[in-house]
Amino acid sequence: MDRQKVTTRSIIEKKQQHIPITMLTAYDFPAAQMMDEVGIDIILVGDSLGMTVLGYETTLPVTMEDMLHHCKAVSRGAKNPLLVGDMPFMSYQVSVEEGVRNAGRFLQEAGMDAVKLEGGREKIEVIRKIVACGIPVMGHIGLTPQSVHQLGGFRTQGKTANAAMKLIQDALALEQAGIFALVLESIPEKLGRLISERLVIPTIGIGAGGGCDGQVLVIHDVLGLYDQFKPKFARQYANLRKVMVDAITSYKEEVISGTFPSNEHVYPINDQEWEKLIRLLEEAE
Ligand code: KIV
Repeated sequence: MDRQKVTTRSIIEKKQQHIPITMLTAYDFPAAQMMDEVGIDIILVGDSLGMTVLGYETTLPVTMEDMLHHCKAVSRGAKNPLLVGDMPFMSYQVSVEEGVRNAGRFLQEAGMDAVKLEGGREKIEVIRKIVACGIPVMGHIGLTPQSVHQLGGFRTQGKTANAAMKLIQDALALEQAGIFALVLESIPEKLGRLISERLVIPTIGIGAGGGCDGQVLVIHDVLGLYDQFKPKFARQYANLRKVMVDAITSYKEEVISGTFPSNEHVYPINDQEWEKLIRLLEEAE
């Protein structure tokens, strides 16, 4: 099927037309290719790769170089989805200048169409400057994993009236600052719906309920590839970990028993050439 490139404009149109927006994380070429083939709207190269792919306990150790490396692989695999690169911890917090420069690297070096960064009103200045450079920004509020230590763990946010009010004000301020979409992570369903209704730009929920304009999940949770931690909001659609462990076990057993490689996996050599080789060896000895 002939598909068109998804843009920041086309996802805002989807909200206006009440068409749900689909977003998934991807960290490599094959996953990006498959998501493009299926017609996923937005691919996020999330800093969750720190946990799912690099084996860290949080996203905090992830660097700009880690992110750019994976973004490049994803951009080679997916042409039509809107590609969003996640700005890692400390790439936009120290100064506005550093934030702008790092945001630019995602587009200039890694083939991304936009960047995502975590935080509310305290990030307005850097967001405004990045947007002013022509770089689309996706916001992210609620449970913001880069602040895991400040939040006291991976906890649902916005559960009190005051905390919910703060998130609503953050969402409106970020929209004013020019973001094109907003990720709402791990907040009560009613709050997710209310924020979505009050914004013109689309919200993309992860643990924020069906009232959001779109949904995002971490691909390793969808495929059942990550067994260290399973959030309540993640739905597992397959158990690829089991499929992979079974395949690796069969390979190991076949190598040990000698059933792999079999005739179909080996390269023959012409009989005449073989005999010639034997003669050459005999002469050489
Ligand atoms: O890094 C990530 O995967 C994310 C999503 C959970 C939205 O930020």
